Amino acid sequence: MNVASPLKLPGAFETGISSIDEEHKGLISSLNSYLASCGYSTIENFDELFTAFISELENHFANEELIMKDAGYPGLEKHAHHHLQCLDELRKVLDWCHKRGYAGTSDVIIFFQKIIDDVSKADLRFVDFLMAEDRLIEFKSR
Ligand SMILES: [Fe+2]
Ligand SMILES: [Fe+2]
Repeated sequence: MNVASPLKLPGAFETGISSIDEEHKGLISSLNSYLASCGYSTIENFDELFTAFISELENHFANEELIMKDAGYPGLEKHAHHHLQCLDELRKVLDWCHKRGYAGTSDVIIFFQKIIDDVSKADLRFVDFLMAEDRLIEFKSR
């Protein structure tokens, strides 16, 4: 990874729902701050940082699921399952870091990939649903 190019969510991954987009940016900004603070080498306080990140992600998922519930989204159950799987996988990464005794930039990249995965495979499907029903405007400022 290029130090001069921090992790960034592609513009096409914007949902158009303000709290969801802001939370995605916040999560990625947290990951960038971990990379910057460790000088792109090992992350000393990974337990504290990753635990906080997983909890930030959990709050984000809860917000998404609430918005989806309010929209009567038929894909909510599947999406919520995807969220649980994602959190489970990230907890496994944290466990692995504990076993190893350190975390590195590649672990931060795994966290980033998980966000990308949820946005591209699940969040944007919800946006498609709202657009097909011509209701995105109703959720823009949520
Ligand atoms: Fe999301
Ligand atoms: Fe999601």
